Amino acid sequence: MCGIVGYVGTQQATPVLLEGLTRLEHRGYDSAGIALLGGTALKVAKKAGRVRDLADGLPKRFAGRVGIGHTRWATHGPANDVNAHPHTDAKGLVAVVHNGIIDNAAALRQRLTDEGVDLASDTDTEVLAHLVGLSDAATLEGKVGDALAQVEGTYGLAVLHADFPDRMVVARNGSPLLIGVGEKEMYVASDLGAIVRHTTTVAHLGDGEIATVTAGGFTTYGGDLRPVTRTAVTVDVDPAAYEAGDHESFMHKEMLEQPAAAARALSGRLDERFGTAHLGGLNMDARETRAIRRVKILGCGSAYYVGQMGAALVEELARIPADAEAASEFRYRDPVIEADTLYVAVSQSGETIDTLLAVQEIRRKGGRVVGLVNVVGSAIARECDGGIYLHAGPEVAVASTKALTNMFLGFALLALQLGRVRDLSIADGRRLINGLTRIPAQIQEILDDEAAIAAVAEQLSEAESVFFVGRVRGFPVAREGAQKFKEISYRHAEAYQTSELKHGPLALISPAVPTVAIVPDDELTDRNVGALHEIAARRGPLVVITHEGVDLGEVDCVRIDVPRNERELDPVLLVVPLQLLAFHAAQRLGHDIDKPRNLAKSVTVE
Ligand code: F6R
Repeated sequence: MCGIVGYVGTQQATPVLLEGLTRLEHRGYDSAGIALLGGTALKVAKKAGRVRDLADGLPKRFAGRVGIGHTRWATHGPANDVNAHPHTDAKGLVAVVHNGIIDNAAALRQRLTDEGVDLASDTDTEVLAHLVGLSDAATLEGKVGDALAQVEGTYGLAVLHADFPDRMVVARNGSPLLIGVGEKEMYVASDLGAIVRHTTTVAHLGDGEIATVTAGGFTTYGGDLRPVTRTAVTVDVDPAAYEAGDHESFMHKEMLEQPAAAARALSGRLDERFGTAHLGGLNMDARETRAIRRVKILGCGSAYYVGQMGAALVEELARIPADAEAASEFRYRDPVIEADTLYVAVSQSGETIDTLLAVQEIRRKGGRVVGLVNVVGSAIARECDGGIYLHAGPEVAVASTKALTNMFLGFALLALQLGRVRDLSIADGRRLINGLTRIPAQIQEILDDEAAIAAVAEQLSEAESVFFVGRVRGFPVAREGAQKFKEISYRHAEAYQTSELKHGPLALISPAVPTVAIVPDDELTDRNVGALHEIAARRGPLVVITHEGVDLGEVDCVRIDVPRNERELDPVLLVVPLQLLAFHAAQRLGHDIDKPRNLAKSVTVE
């Protein structure tokens, strides 16, 4: 949420910053802005809207070799020019860009106003600019340290000061920030994607740390300004993975990448001989694994729904009681943390603040947490006792697809390993391994049906409201289907257990309200088919996601068949047509697929 990029070196900063901001735009697209130091003059340009609006409106001579930039997802105050970052102090010497939330901003705003400072914006960030400007410390890191000592909250931030024209100072607490190392030039960013074309040698700042960055290098400090050592490392990443290439959107590209991403998630982790999985990163031996009595999965949004699929897998394969809970609610109910429970935090970004805070709550109370995380070295990955990297590759679209597929596979591997140190037979282990290895090709089969699914989406896009229904394994699939649909089509979509329809929502079924029903070939097929008839009898249009050969009776419906796998693994295949339905409905409605309104990738504020 929000994006930061910075540059100091020998080139003009503006093109580097604009390019970085464009690549960060999925993090927030309410406004964009940049500040430059050209000599000792601080120049600021900022604008509500997209990065291209900012670029189009830049003054002709907007030059400088040190600069910072920001894309905003509004928290405090509406998305207008004034609230756009960077924010400046009263003398126009200091510029600040900030991700996160200053919790005591209201009190600080009041204090500054009482001291005679005129606040220009509604934002929490502006107080930081004034506090830096008012500090009488001799160095810029000293001024930033003084300001940060007065704030409570989360931040990733970058600061320029006209009196220190060769440098920027950056700091982090709860919001990601990294420093990229170039040849006589340095970069900063909240996300590697912003600078990956320039450098892949990076140092991640730790929470509570401050760094001074000049063209020649960087120095990191703890909050007390005592130097701490942070070494830059070269990360193995292909810059092309951050490009949409020939695709009309990142979401489309990422959906089509699923077969390859799924193969990566499984690669080297399946043990055919013993019918089990090898997840060395869990950091648990067989005795510790056997001692687990319960599994609790925590994630937000779609990660939470995949967590529900994961809980079902753990119960089915390992016969360990398991459930998933929204990480955003977890710590507010003062949860009881049990020593024999394995807590699992699941997150694409590894930065979702609610999931991170849930992990911290568990660890504070002595619990063991493992992470299912996509972004290597992210905050959640670092905070956990061990984990499984998802290997989905960079995911840029706000609507998550390939990461979710790999989360499911991560849970399948975990459930297999937990099951095989208990009562899951070697034969069942091998059966599931066989099923898992078929998944990449089966996802491809569904993707090959895209044109047919797009035609169904066209019809769905005309409805104001759509139900998504499923039972047991199919219910989290329905939840994820409704989530994707509402997120990018802006149509009302509601997920329900098929079994619960009669208890209320059937009242809403009519020719104007279609239902997308998940009807796999499993022990509940007959009951699911019964519900289809009840919907059809109320003249509700039906789209049924099912398996070839399933007899739906005489019911009038549009049918989408997905390939069969082992029943336990069906959800990962049933969900793929739902991604395509959402994508094509949104495309038909003319929406910006990668930047759905009001949303942003990675929710790093509470
Ligand atoms: C939906 C979506 C969100 C995320 C959620 C958690 O398509 O992407 O619901 O799943 O914000 O994000 P991560 O997985 O980064 O923790």
